[in-house]
Amino acid sequence: MNAAVAPARRSIQLPPVPDSPFPYHPGSLLSVDDLTLDDVSRILERAAALEHEAPLERARILAKRRVALLFYESSTRTRTSFELAAKSLGADTTLISSLSSSIEKGESLKDTGLTIKALGAETIILRHSSSGAPWLLEEATRLPILNAGDGMHEHPTQALLDLRTILAHLDPKTRICHPESSMAQYSDLSKTRHPERGRRGDRVEGSAVQPGAPGPGSPATGFRRWGGDPTFGTWDGTIADETLAGITITIVGDILHSRVARSNMRLLPRLGARVVLCGPPQLLPEIAVQIGPGIAVERNFEAALRQSTVVMMLRIQAERLAGLQLDLNEYKAGYQLTGERLRDHAPQALVLHPGPIIRGLELTAGVADGPQSAIVEQVRHGVAIRMAVVERALTAAKEARA
Ligand code: CP
Repeated sequence: MNAAVAPARRSIQLPPVPDSPFPYHPGSLLSVDDLTLDDVSRILERAAALEHEAPLERARILAKRRVALLFYESSTRTRTSFELAAKSLGADTTLISSLSSSIEKGESLKDTGLTIKALGAETIILRHSSSGAPWLLEEATRLPILNAGDGMHEHPTQALLDLRTILAHLDPKTRICHPESSMAQYSDLSKTRHPERGRRGDRVEGSAVQPGAPGPGSPATGFRRWGGDPTFGTWDGTIADETLAGITITIVGDILHSRVARSNMRLLPRLGARVVLCGPPQLLPEIAVQIGPGIAVERNFEAALRQSTVVMMLRIQAERLAGLQLDLNEYKAGYQLTGERLRDHAPQALVLHPGPIIRGLELTAGVADGPQSAIVEQVRHGVAIRMAVVERALTAAKEARA
């Protein structure tokens, strides 16, 4: 009997090495990590320019281009602002929702994407409950994909609009932020240049900023009330690694399940900000500090508030708790942002919240509607940011085809 002949081994096919450090479509925005600081600058500058553009002129920029919004999860702010942004640039938009499409019949993300592409979509804006879904859709369709929130992973356009909101209140000369500054000041930012932009470690005359970032327990640089200082609002539109030096942004609450927290934790320290995470261990594992440099954990809410230039409150994501027991009364006692806490510990801080907000849980109605809150303004910044991001997606698509 012949000895068995071992079958010849097939050589392993390794995936091709992409010649670009970004192996995806150049118009895609999947993660904030995909963006260089120059990219961030360009998006912010373009957002300001598009916001100023005359509506009829603006509507010619992407006239008749096709934008699909593919939403597997509910959304008010992100979906509406992306749609309004694309429409105001003249694009045709279509919404595919998991509740009223063949997704309900079991069609996969890949087949839904290929179908949308066959129907003529040139970019897809995707919200999905699974982390990583935008990468899968990118690989399946090779279209520019805009991540509108994937599970507990990332929400890059939210981080960009949060950044725009912070910069809208930041006086680059004094490194002080002003809760009562207006959109009008922000709108002129791309047109003016300030000769004395603060650098990391600078001591700016009249400022409370100490060299470097404040350490735990140090008093925060304040988002002071804006008193009509004519030099305010002169951020020059260029983002650099010291743009947020001396600024402490505290993110409070359900960090574990928050894609907004993750995108902000990845973006803001690259601009020199110190990010403090605050919440109970069930919602904030200690390992969170390992996401990158510039991140610290402070369990005591009052101590965290005292360090904060910006306080970003997060919703408890009941839909993602997956059996995790949380005593809401205990949570509110420890972490609810009340008027009293704000007055006593962070009277100059700017209050942000990505929404949706649950009044009476993570913050009180008085704080949500109060003078330190920029929550509604964040929503407004979302339209301008998403105009810039949709334009980037379709412009890159055009260049890729040329
Ligand atoms: N911030 C945010 O993503 O809100 P929506 O879920 O309403 O889009």
